[in-house]
Amino acid sequence: MQPVIPLDFTIETARCLLRCPSAADIPDIFSATRFAGFNNGMQWEPPATIEELDEPLRENLLEWESGKTFCLTIADPVSDCLIGRIGIRRTNRVDVWNLGFWTHPEHQGQGYMTEAAIAVIEFGFERLGATRIEASYALWNKASQRTLEKVGMRLVRYIPHAFQKRGRWIEANKMEITKQEWFKHED
Ligand SMILES: CC(C)(COP(=O)(O)OP(=O)(O)OC[C@H]1O[C@@H](n2cnc3c(N)ncnc32)[C@H](O)[C@@H]1OP(=O)(O)O)[C@@H](O)C(=O)NCCC(=O)NCCS
Repeated sequence: MQPVIPLDFTIETARCLLRCPSAADIPDIFSATRFAGFNNGMQWEPPATIEELDEPLRENLLEWESGKTFCLTIADPVSDCLIGRIGIRRTNRVDVWNLGFWTHPEHQGQGYMTEAAIAVIEFGFERLGATRIEASYALWNKASQRTLEKVGMRLVRYIPHAFQKRGRWIEANKMEITKQEWFKHED
């Protein structure tokens, strides 16, 4: 059964409000993609124009409504400005979900993704019925590795050909945490 989460659902963390994506986020997303190397660790490419971000927003909302992917904007609770994005996506394995994220370069290194990832993992186990949450990072992506380790994920396996960037295979590590490990880790 697909989880039903209303579009006005939010998660509050100590410093952030996690909410459904909106058109107001687009200028900040476009701005993030203008930083050199920002997209190197992710499977999507930077848009050529800001208008190219309209379609992904529509897709995010449809995916949310169908219960397949919950892509949340990490926003400042006062200004509502975008700090980053975090998505949790159903895989084709029963109750296994996949986590992906990015922080706008102007807000990196301040603990925002660790804070958001903890909240979304909790959401995955408590509201989405996940029994296992996975994530992968390109081997060179130490910031992503560190963030996943800080939230309690452990290495599952090395993937030599994880995805392609500009025609070249990128090697990655797959990480995971089970529901049992998560609730033990919270004690
Ligand atoms: C990965 C990413 C989301 C982390 O976001 P963030 O908000 O900066 O994360 P946090 O501040 O919560 O934690 C980052 C951790 O990585 C560490 N880190 C950052 N750069 C690092 C580097 N080059 N080498 C080692 N550790 C690094 C930080 O020191 C911090 O760990 P600490 O708290 O132990 O000091 C961010 O770097 C990003 O958006 N990168 C570009 C997009 C991307 O690659 N996304 C992930 C795809 S798998």
